[in-house]
Amino acid sequence: MAKVVIEHVYKIYDGEKGRPDKVAVDDAHFEIEDREFMVLVGPSGCGKTTTLRMIAGLEEISRGKIYIDGKVINDVPPKDRDIAMVFQNYALYPHMSVYKNMAFGLQLRKVAQSEIDRRVMDAAKILGLTHPDNLLERKPKALSGGQRQRVALGRAIVRQPKAFLFDEPLSNLDAKMRVEMRTEISKLHLRLNSTMIYVTHDQVEAMTMADRIVVMKDGKIQQLAEPLTIYNQPANLFVAGFIGSPPMNFLHGIIVKKNNSIVFEERSKEGALPGPVALTLDDEHARKLAPYENKNVVLGIRPENLEDKLYVSDPDPGSIFESTLEVLEPMGAETYLYLNTGHHSIIARSQQVQTKNEVGHPISLVADMKKARFFDTATENLIA
Ligand SMILES: Nc1ncnc2c1ncn2[C@@H]1O[C@H](COP(=O)(O)OP(=O)(O)OP(=O)(O)O)[C@@H](O)[C@H]1O
Ligand SMILES: [Mg+2]
Repeated sequence: MAKVVIEHVYKIYDGEKGRPDKVAVDDAHFEIEDREFMVLVGPSGCGKTTTLRMIAGLEEISRGKIYIDGKVINDVPPKDRDIAMVFQNYALYPHMSVYKNMAFGLQLRKVAQSEIDRRVMDAAKILGLTHPDNLLERKPKALSGGQRQRVALGRAIVRQPKAFLFDEPLSNLDAKMRVEMRTEISKLHLRLNSTMIYVTHDQVEAMTMADRIVVMKDGKIQQLAEPLTIYNQPANLFVAGFIGSPPMNFLHGIIVKKNNSIVFEERSKEGALPGPVALTLDDEHARKLAPYENKNVVLGIRPENLEDKLYVSDPDPGSIFESTLEVLEPMGAETYLYLNTGHHSIIARSQQVQTKNEVGHPISLVADMKKARFFDTATENLIA
């Protein structure tokens, strides 16, 4: 069991001229609680793997400290950190059987054979490597990708580490297997009750598996929170756009006062041209956006918070706007509508299985303004 503390940690690599000027991790500062499932998510190159490798001891820490269970581990060699890491490429020994792959690390550590047997068999059972087919004597090349990944997990489990580190362990699997292994790892977490730190660039994995999520960009932490907080209260435009699929819609515009209401009026991204969207803010947003009168803001609204007006009973007139339907995607249970306001391309997720609308025609939409979010155009931070 382990609590991991990352204290003002930096990783600075040598840049092109051999000078240490490439900041890969920029002042990472957070804690992973004992038994927590923490997911680090962000686009390629944002510093996820580097952060994980510093925790594992595979990469030197340039500045700052990392603690495991209250002890600074900056200078502790990887093998003494009592941490197991599972990689994307499995890294199995091709000439060894499944059993041997799992047992090998324990043999090196001179664990008694009876104990090795017990741990390998326990892990194999948990991971379904003995039933329905007994895979223990097979070589890795005779396994499917999902089975190989299970063996890689097994090799980590038998070590009974204080914490597990995962670096995109599912990205080599096909979509169906990925969903399956995702739930396997979540079950494993419940069963083993250990600290897990999981790196992915897949926001769905982050949302579904995490107790808490760290969103990173360019080496910097953008937000650390529980999945639904990240989804509903994204700290800035980057987080808002990264988490959620299809992504949140963004419309540039200004806040104006009209009669007794506060209204968002769409503008072209580059500047002044007004667009067809004018939406009245609900009371709470109106209060928080009042200081932004005549200022630029970005309105963010998720596709599921836009519905075709045909299917909304008694919509508030201040929440309706016009756009043109460009593409229809029937998803079976719902329909994705790709639309254009003239200034912005947006996506709506209609709860209707089929819609009466036709591509190329205008369509009226209703925005659920309580669910809208507003961002400061200059700082890109959430206002309300
Ligand atoms: N050994 C190295 N020397 C110099 N720069 C490096 C080195 N390793 C990584 N980097 C740089 O550090 C940054 C962070 O890399 P890192 O591998 O941590 O990203 P990542 O978030 O894991 O990305 P991905 O999703 O592609 O795996 C990148 O810009 C990368 O090019
Ligand atoms: Mg990586």
